[in-house]
Amino acid sequence: MAQNWNPSSWRHKPIQQVPEYPDKAALAATEAQLATYPPLVFAGEARRLKKALANVSEGKGFLLQGGDCAESFAEHGADTIRDFFRAFLQMAVVLTFGAQLPVVKVGRIAGQFAKPRSSAFEKQGDQTLLTYRGDIVNGTEFTEESRTPNPERQIMAYRQSAATLNLLRAFAMGGYANLENVHQWMLGFVKDSPQGERYRKLADRISETMDFMKAVGITADNNPSLRETDFFTSHEALLLGYEEALTRVDSTSGDWYATSGHMIWIGDRTRQVDHAHVEYFRGIKNPIGLKCGPSLTPDNLIELIDVLNPANEAGRLTLICRFGHDKVAESLPKLIRAVEREGRKVVWSCDPMHGNTITLNNYKTRPFERILSEVESFFQIHRAEGTHPGGIHIEMTGKDVTECTGGARAVTADDLQDRYHTHCDPRLNADQALELAFLLAERMKGGRDEKRLAANG
Ligand code: TRP
Ligand code: MN
Repeated sequence: MAQNWNPSSWRHKPIQQVPEYPDKAALAATEAQLATYPPLVFAGEARRLKKALANVSEGKGFLLQGGDCAESFAEHGADTIRDFFRAFLQMAVVLTFGAQLPVVKVGRIAGQFAKPRSSAFEKQGDQTLLTYRGDIVNGTEFTEESRTPNPERQIMAYRQSAATLNLLRAFAMGGYANLENVHQWMLGFVKDSPQGERYRKLADRISETMDFMKAVGITADNNPSLRETDFFTSHEALLLGYEEALTRVDSTSGDWYATSGHMIWIGDRTRQVDHAHVEYFRGIKNPIGLKCGPSLTPDNLIELIDVLNPANEAGRLTLICRFGHDKVAESLPKLIRAVEREGRKVVWSCDPMHGNTITLNNYKTRPFERILSEVESFFQIHRAEGTHPGGIHIEMTGKDVTECTGGARAVTADDLQDRYHTHCDPRLNADQALELAFLLAERMKGGRDEKRLAANG
């Protein structure tokens, strides 16, 4: 076990991005109450995810991680969850086929409520109030009352996470995730997409493969792996009081686990090696993520890996790179070389969202071309370095929103006002998300063909 660590040892360290709760006694009471509630996930599941990620780190899998920038209390309907899951699974099928590798499915969901912010205050007219920090902390409404951090919200977030997770488990195991269904939805997308012709070839090959499997007697009826899928949850573990309350000892191993989600990550703004977030993360055994932005130096990174994964355990650490389409070529290779030189086992994942945010017509948006461009550079760089581009991390929704510009059904700057629903950052809509999966699958297939040619030639 990590030395001198306990679930509250982070409290003795400097900390970034914490809300100031005016009523400390109420906060303590809420945390004490949460500590008596059942865990949302259990250690065995987290270990299973870690094993799947260990495979990814060895080049034998691909990580798909995605969901809302921030979940919201107002949008906690079954349809929102179902539509997300539907789009996400279609991406997973396309990527599985493109990579010819198992896809590890991890949602940014059932716990993704707390947001780091660049300023502590927001000014409108002559009124200055605290900024919105996610529904688990305060409300979006620009009033003194709504912006005051309220501990009760942690209980609401816990309960919403439990209900969301319950439905996702039912979908994943109860027949909704049946590969044949997902394949039919995907064909529907291809049929309706303006770029459908481009995707048809890949879609047809998936159809043929499905028909072949049926012909030889492999069906969802006789094969549970065709009708069920492993789906895991993840979020940025920003609000450490909440996380601490849900940190539990696993009775099988005696180890500490965060039970608020299967995987949790450290944000780019809270990854100081001697600060509270890194302190909390080093003691829990879950698979964890570390967001890597342009300010992270190779030495910083190795120092962080020393603390977060001292045993160099495969699957423990996923590096989620978010540089921006114009910075990735400068930033990524030196980090890859440092990690390779030191022989550290990591999963390399690409977050092409957070470095590509711009403002158009007063809307925060992200051009689809820049998102695609960052992912493509990420793949190219890994190919050049001889390392495995292990996954992608995206902000997406299953709904037909207009938050990111571009895509086959081009969303323009003027369209942004139509269905701009996000509480925080702009997300890919269902079509844009699936398009990204198709374009990536094409590229991965291209890479495989190249390798095969080289091997045979
Ligand atoms: N169980 C396999 C997997 O999860 C196959 C599968 C079943 C699947 N349903 C799916 C794959 C939906 C992607 C999407 O990989
Ligand atoms: Mn975001």
